[in-house]
Amino acid sequence: MMLNVGIIGTGWFSGVHAKILNKMDGVQIKAICGTSQDKADKFAKDFNDVKGYSSVVNMLDSEKLDAVYICVPPFAHGEIELELLNRKIPFLVEKPLGVDLDIPADILSNLQDQTLITSVGYHFRYRDSIALLKKELNSSTLGMVTGGWMGSMPSVPWWRNQSTSGGQFIEQTTHLVDLLRYTVGEVDEVYSSFGKRSLSEQYENVSVHDVGTVTLKFQNGVIANLSNTCILPEGDSSVGLDYYTNEGLFHVGFDGMNSSKKGTTSSFKDEANPYEKENNAFIHAVKTGDRSMILSDYHDAYKTHAVTVAALHSAEKGKTIRLSEYLNNGKIVRT
Ligand SMILES: NC(=O)c1ccc[n+]([C@@H]2O[C@H](COP(=O)([O-])OP(=O)(O)OC[C@H]3O[C@@H](n4cnc5c(N)ncnc54)[C@H](O)[C@@H]3O)[C@@H](O)[C@H]2O)c1
Repeated sequence: MMLNVGIIGTGWFSGVHAKILNKMDGVQIKAICGTSQDKADKFAKDFNDVKGYSSVVNMLDSEKLDAVYICVPPFAHGEIELELLNRKIPFLVEKPLGVDLDIPADILSNLQDQTLITSVGYHFRYRDSIALLKKELNSSTLGMVTGGWMGSMPSVPWWRNQSTSGGQFIEQTTHLVDLLRYTVGEVDEVYSSFGKRSLSEQYENVSVHDVGTVTLKFQNGVIANLSNTCILPEGDSSVGLDYYTNEGLFHVGFDGMNSSKKGTTSSFKDEANPYEKENNAFIHAVKTGDRSMILSDYHDAYKTHAVTVAALHSAEKGKTIRLSEYLNNGKIVRT
């Protein structure tokens, strides 16, 4: 059975997914939609039999698509997902779900009446080192986690603007928040301090914070602190989480895990590509209806997104936010 796939967005990450899809058996990329015909045609040129479109509605009217990938910046979500929902077309959407909670809450409430297959690009979950970490955490008592996403500012123009990206914690550090939810549990309280130190002196039109630190209390009593900055020069970065347990210390980096258990150290390097596993899981679900390999769907990702938005609100208001203000027994609470 051949699965016909469409992609929305013609930037970096559409390319990453397209190259993976292009190598998969039983999958044909049929269409690509960009903000202009020219951009879509340029993207399509690198692949066989792919047609370019400049309108999502035209693409969906003209092609019979079995699944769609949404790889657009955070501000561009909303109409795309609602259009796919109306047509009952399964989608994989890149994180984050939006710049704040309004549009994702609308999409989620529309999704709640449906059984549509969705997947969200929280690829850290698909890493073998994370499966190993989960095993270690099952046989120890976790006390706390510290970590952060310390790096430089991505060069895409939408990233530096608060209203188009949501800022670093919502756009980027969300991967670590999601990993914490996946490995620790649900968040109860969030308290943050965000600041603006240096980016707006280096670049024009910067409205995002460039430093931040966020304290998280989990429902099970674990505490965590996540920091982030985007002021480092390009090439300098430190990204990861340290898990402190009664059996030892586990450090998760970008592509592996280092452990120190009662003085004995070991390291594990991820070999399998988590993006390929994420794509396989979604395509398998669309082909067979078995969604058990999908590790992050829209419902679950909404909870991660809510934590990151709560962190921004906490910094803005200077107060602790309880997640129950945003999520009430799984129901959406509007802020
Ligand atoms: N999971 C990951 O590891 C990972 C890595 C990189 C990027 N991402 C995410 O992927 C998303 C896209 O990032 P990117 O790096 O590809 O950005 P990009 O700027 O390179 O590309 C975004 C593309 O979306 C297009 N676009 C914007 N609005 C559109 C619309 N309404 N219809 C169709 N196209 C539209 C833009 O023209 C551009 O081509 C972001 O949310 C980002 O966070 C995820």
